[in-house]
Amino acid sequence: MSDITLHLGQTLWFTDNPMTEGPDAARFDPRGAIAVQDGHVLARGTADDLRRDHPQAAVEDHGQALILPGFIDAHVHYPQTAMIASWGKRLIDWLNTYTFPEEMRFGDADYAAEIAGRYLDLALAHGTTTMCSYCTIHPQSVEAYFNAAQARGMRVLGGKTCMDRNAPDGLRDTAQSAYDDSKALLARWHGQGRASYVITPRFSPTSTPDQLSALGALWAEHPDCLMQTHLSEQTDEIAWVRGIYPQARDYLDTYEAHGLLGANGVYGHAIHLEPRERDRLREVGAALVHCPTSNTFIGSGLFDMAGLVAEGQRVGLATDTGGGSSFSMLRTMAAAYEVAQLRGTALHPSALLWLATEGSARSLRIADRVGNLAPGTEADFITLDLGSTPAIAQRSRRAADIWEAVFPTIMMGDDRAVSGVWVMGQRMG
Ligand code: GUN
Ligand code: ZN
Repeated sequence: MSDITLHLGQTLWFTDNPMTEGPDAARFDPRGAIAVQDGHVLARGTADDLRRDHPQAAVEDHGQALILPGFIDAHVHYPQTAMIASWGKRLIDWLNTYTFPEEMRFGDADYAAEIAGRYLDLALAHGTTTMCSYCTIHPQSVEAYFNAAQARGMRVLGGKTCMDRNAPDGLRDTAQSAYDDSKALLARWHGQGRASYVITPRFSPTSTPDQLSALGALWAEHPDCLMQTHLSEQTDEIAWVRGIYPQARDYLDTYEAHGLLGANGVYGHAIHLEPRERDRLREVGAALVHCPTSNTFIGSGLFDMAGLVAEGQRVGLATDTGGGSSFSMLRTMAAAYEVAQLRGTALHPSALLWLATEGSARSLRIADRVGNLAPGTEADFITLDLGSTPAIAQRSRRAADIWEAVFPTIMMGDDRAVSGVWVMGQRMG
């Protein structure tokens, strides 16, 4: 047993899901603490109680900063780091104009390593300690990602993006090579340290039915793995899917018919869903990932958060960098708030914070490890300065409670608000 460190600050955690149970599901302590030992959370409570229980512990006092679990980004494309904020296109043109040429470069292992490192450092600086990323079709891009994460000690998920049609030369695999490469990468990385492999067909337009079937077969061999893909992001895309999968009842059916619908499925965007699709997603217990800065930036549409949560769907939150216009889960929470407002619902700060931490962790089925700072979980956490800019500070100074104190940081905060980041109890920034 090694030494214990107490981290003191304001603390906030959830006893239940505030999306369904309301803000009473949160526990706030203006003078709280977590005890960390061997990279894990040993205990949490009031600062006084933990000091009394652990009189020998080292103490790091973060003052008024808010201690939270590290943010969890449930859907991101790390290879799109260098082309984030590319102007003026909608989904299909955006992919062809900006995304595919950039992803082509990841056949070069050195370039992949450079961007993987740059992306993970940006993510950490923004308080994101875990993410689920698409890589490119190149196995080197997956190696680069997991190696860079391992060097930083981070819990990450991801996989080789598979595409065998409707992508340029040099950016297509085949049904067989997608299966073979994914299987080899899965064997090498799944459960290796803090890495989890995710089977990753990009989306139905860039896979033949044969490729979807091959990846469905791989998933059936490894049902404990997650499978991630895109679903019903833009109306043009849905019309395209209808055209190239004439037998399918709807977009989701293109996955379902090939063994790619299940409880460990993680479906990005899921904006324009038909009633049958919603029913099936809920029946199987799949996860939907809301990518609000992407959905506004690429002009995709307004995710039905309130309706989907009310009907019992599992929902996570994500940047979708570089379709998303930010690396920041704070900015992403702000966009989720704005999108919900446009649909007539005001998401409470407790719901936003839950989505960016435990909600995303649950969507990736890792909430027993990260995302809530419960005793026994891994000590990935951040401190948030709730007055990180003059504009935020002058507003939060007037706050009557923690929700008023934190909401200006959610709406106006960025990496300047993240005053500290710890991975497995080790300070990263
Ligand atoms: N659909 C298929 N590929 C992508 C991608 O890279 N980004 C987004 N936003 N949507 C996609
Ligand atoms: Zn995406």
